[in-house]
Amino acid sequence: MIMLHKGNKDTIILGIESSCDDTSVSIAQNNRILSNIVSNQKVHKEYGGVIPELASREHQKNIIPTISLAIKKAKISMDDIDAIAFTRGPGLMGSLLVGSSFAKSLALSLNIPLIEVNHMEAHVIANFIDHIPEFPLICLTVSGGHTQIVKVESVKKINILGETLDDSAGETFDKCAKILGLNYPGGPEIEKKAKYGNPLAFTFTKPKVKNLNFSFSGLKTNFLQLIKKESTLNNTFIQDNIEDLCASIQSTIIEILLNKLNVAIIKYKPKNIAISGGVAANEKFRQSIKKLEEKYRLNVLIPKKEYATDNAAMIALSGYYKYKENALTNLEINVDPRYHINRYSE
Ligand code: KG4
Ligand code: ZN
Repeated sequence: MIMLHKGNKDTIILGIESSCDDTSVSIAQNNRILSNIVSNQKVHKEYGGVIPELASREHQKNIIPTISLAIKKAKISMDDIDAIAFTRGPGLMGSLLVGSSFAKSLALSLNIPLIEVNHMEAHVIANFIDHIPEFPLICLTVSGGHTQIVKVESVKKINILGETLDDSAGETFDKCAKILGLNYPGGPEIEKKAKYGNPLAFTFTKPKVKNLNFSFSGLKTNFLQLIKKESTLNNTFIQDNIEDLCASIQSTIIEILLNKLNVAIIKYKPKNIAISGGVAANEKFRQSIKKLEEKYRLNVLIPKKEYATDNAAMIALSGYYKYKENALTNLEINVDPRYHINRYSE
């Protein structure tokens, strides 16, 4: 029989994130983060993308040291932990299985509850560290696997208003970086070079997608075609223009994201808006979002960069909010690589 409360008034949650290529473990004390350790996997760098088999093997290697470090940094002991939260999906099957198996064995051996967390909801909840904002809130989540605009009516009620019909914004950064011969992940690489480039040097076609949905595959193709065409005329085209190409593709991706967010703000008139996901670590994107504060007279929540990219703090925090609601799961739970958030219906 699992005991829900141990008598202490603070709740300590250990969160495990392993959906893609980062092994991360975090300890939350209520809605405060005591530690958040992220072990990045460098093995994928040269392949231009994540290799699933290598990712699960690296998770297996990293998970125990990452758990130990998170506990040490939080200055707690195993006995202080009230529940284990883990990422159930979406993500890579093998990677999710490593995290969920560890979460299950820890919960079993410590005889404490297990909490399953949706990775995309957790990205949104990363904005609720230390305090919960006023709802409704509109959040633009831009990661490597997803691009979504969601309406948040409570910590429990997060619904999709629109999402990408093909590639995500992060994937577009990654694919364009690969075309330019830059390393994976491409977003930070493009950002570094873009600092010295002219964002108006090259123009690309913008998608015409209805409602609050996105599309990025046309932009990627357009970028590839330009590079191929210009490189046949000048074989040092990329080298000669790398900074301008990076600045131009970065500003086009940001413009596409902002256009849709503007539509959502006008339609839903939220008091708060937020961004999250790996692309939310991009400085130019953060600055453009910040400007909306004055334009629409609303509050803008932007997570610290360490809580924007994949991290377990968002999993531990989601776990804490679920624990308070008694939303627990059990050892029979399966991971779900396609775990989806429901669509909003008016
Ligand atoms: O949320 P995340 O860490 O993992 C997923 O859940 O996918 O997002 C990873 C994505 C990658 O596509 C990466 O290139 C992008 O976020 N990214 C960035 C930056 N840092 C990470 N994109 C643009 N600028 C950045 N600084
Ligand atoms: Zn993510």
